[in-house]
Amino acid sequence: MSVGADLIARGISIRDQFAAPSQIGALLECVEIRKSQGGFSPARIGNRGALQLRENVRGDSTCWLSEPLYPAERALLDQFEELRVELNREAFLGLFELELHYAWYPPGAGYSRHLDQPQGSRQRLVSMVLYLNRDWDAGVGGALRVYDEAEHVLDIEPIAGRLVCFLTPGREHAVLPGKRDRFSISGWFRGRD
Ligand code: OGA
Ligand code: MN
Repeated sequence: MSVGADLIARGISIRDQFAAPSQIGALLECVEIRKSQGGFSPARIGNRGALQLRENVRGDSTCWLSEPLYPAERALLDQFEELRVELNREAFLGLFELELHYAWYPPGAGYSRHLDQPQGSRQRLVSMVLYLNRDWDAGVGGALRVYDEAEHVLDIEPIAGRLVCFLTPGREHAVLPGKRDRFSISGWFRGRD
């Protein structure tokens, strides 16, 4: 099934080999460059205010895909643009713009159960994660855990090239701590104001 059909039917889509192995290698090189330039910073957000009902405790560091982009990043952006057009055609989602960041979870780091909240005024409609972890072994942890309304969980391994998409509103999920460095690119399609 296409991503759009899966989102309509189940609210979530898992597509393997969204990115080819050579593309993963090139993106990992971008990660190394951006790391060496100090582009990653700790993403601890939402765990401050005492009035907050649920703490979004996260141990990852993130780096926005901002200009100047490397060729592998630009190619990925083009792929996401194709996906955006496809989703609008198939699922009438009215997706308008994209935000993307790298995420790096060192060993032991996770992201507790949370909703992807909108930043700014434009609503996040579709959440996406592309994984960059070659030779990933399920025994090391680090799965994406997705919950449904009945509290059933689906654990998804963050293997290289896999793209997970889900409808953002109301979909709770977490990143389980793992024993290895875990790299991904998280993205959100937003609607118009
Ligand atoms: C996020 C997130 C999931 C993952 O960045 O908000 O939930 O598997 N990521 O990396
Ligand atoms: Mn999330």
